[in-house]
Amino acid sequence: MEEKLFVGGVSSDDIPPSKLGTKEYWNDTYARELQSFKDIGDVGEIWFGVQSMTRIVQWMKRQNIGEDSAVLDIGTGNGILLVDLAKAGFSNLTGIDYSPAAVELAKCILEEELLQNVRIQVEDFLNPSMCLSGFDVCIDKGTFDAISLCPENSAGKMSRYVETLHKVLKQKGIFIITSCNWTKNELVNQFHEGFELQEELPTSKFQFGGKMGNSVTALVFVKKT
Ligand SMILES: C[S@@+](CC[C@H](N)C(=O)[O-])C[C@H]1O[C@@H](n2cnc3c(N)ncnc32)[C@H](O)[C@@H]1O
Repeated sequence: MEEKLFVGGVSSDDIPPSKLGTKEYWNDTYARELQSFKDIGDVGEIWFGVQSMTRIVQWMKRQNIGEDSAVLDIGTGNGILLVDLAKAGFSNLTGIDYSPAAVELAKCILEEELLQNVRIQVEDFLNPSMCLSGFDVCIDKGTFDAISLCPENSAGKMSRYVETLHKVLKQKGIFIITSCNWTKNELVNQFHEGFELQEELPTSKFQFGGKMGNSVTALVFVKKT
């Protein structure tokens, strides 16, 4: 599947607010996807395609990240990444999403896959409950992008995101982000307080006007001690 863009290749200053930055949009989207899952078993959109999940799971395996590590999928949507992680052997998985419809869809999919041990809960990552803490690995696929498109106070919400991330990750915890709104340098800049870039994961490249670029950026950060 093609890696999918929200707003292709614009710089951070130019990113216009969008309905993709609103809870209503995601609730409507996942309510439709939930119905479609119930009707025909379609799990719905996999953001950035299947290879975006394979990239993350294979990297975690290569790094020998313990299968009992506490892993959080931030803005899990339909929870398919959690299904892949569970099938790869990871056993301490949590997914959160602020959309109740997304959480219900993820629960239905996990139930069908007989993966009852995966925790799924409704949580706003910008206003998390006390129990959201102590994670070894946090993963974000498209959620920071969505938050950065919020029509109201996106800059404030982005810095709140960084604060929450810092709070929920253990010391030396790992953060893996996949984004199409932000370049590598922009993400390094966004997360520079409290996080250090460990690695850039290879993603597909495109050529435009004689220049090579990435449509999707995938980075691994480590929480600074
Ligand atoms: C582009 S979708 C990506 C979904 C999923 N990660 C995937 O890769 O398929 C963005 C997700 O972020 C969720 N989201 C946006 N803002 C959030 C917030 N403040 N707290 C929790 N979830 C949020 C949306 O409900 C949506 O499920």
